[in-house]
Amino acid sequence: MDIKSAEFVISNTDFRKCPESQLPEYAFIGRSNVGKSSLINMLTNKNGLAMTSSKPGKTLLINHFLINNNWHLVDLPGYGFATTGKKMREQLQTIIESYILYREQLTCLFLLIDSRHAPQKIDVEFMTWLGENGIPFAIVFTKLDKMSAVKAKESMNAYREKLKEIWEELPPIFSTSSEKRIGRDELLNYIETINKTL
Ligand code: GTP
Ligand code: MG
Repeated sequence: MDIKSAEFVISNTDFRKCPESQLPEYAFIGRSNVGKSSLINMLTNKNGLAMTSSKPGKTLLINHFLINNNWHLVDLPGYGFATTGKKMREQLQTIIESYILYREQLTCLFLLIDSRHAPQKIDVEFMTWLGENGIPFAIVFTKLDKMSAVKAKESMNAYREKLKEIWEELPPIFSTSSEKRIGRDELLNYIETINKTL
């Protein structure tokens, strides 16, 4: 899929104030700093469209971007950011959970995982919660450029094996680097394929 246009629409703390249009929506979630906003910029070829930072906790709102005038990309706040206060963490959790549970236009949630890490409890629990609530999701490994190709493959295979101990079936899995622009076509084609079925 070609990206012909990508525009910021609106930021929200409340899913009820998100755009009223019925366009299909694809949202990015994962731990703080995993690279959600960077991936949106890479996919849209627009650096600075979604705000990024080397410090975790940059994105604190639900951000809608209109792509090709016919679908939305959504940048969400990260979870698991230890140094934010308890109240802030709870507020963010409410924002994220209510968006995911009640936003009917949400077509697929991309759950981002740093490709260097072994499965973390917080991510596994989050996947379980998605499964329990019937939320369609795919896994996106990020920051592939931070390792050699061999190490990256090993790390992602180990991750798959661990998940298979818990689940019989795994969701679709993508490997990406925003830095090296890896995985762009695969993700955009996946979105296009789903859009065509709607
Ligand atoms: P929050 O909004 O805080 O939840 O973070 P986020 O998940 O949106 O992460 P963000 O895109 O802001 O990126 C966090 C840091 O990781 C930034 O310093 C990015 O430059 C860096 N980063 C993101 N993706 C990649 C990647 O593919 N490769 C490398 N090397 N760095 C990356
Ligand atoms: Mg962000």
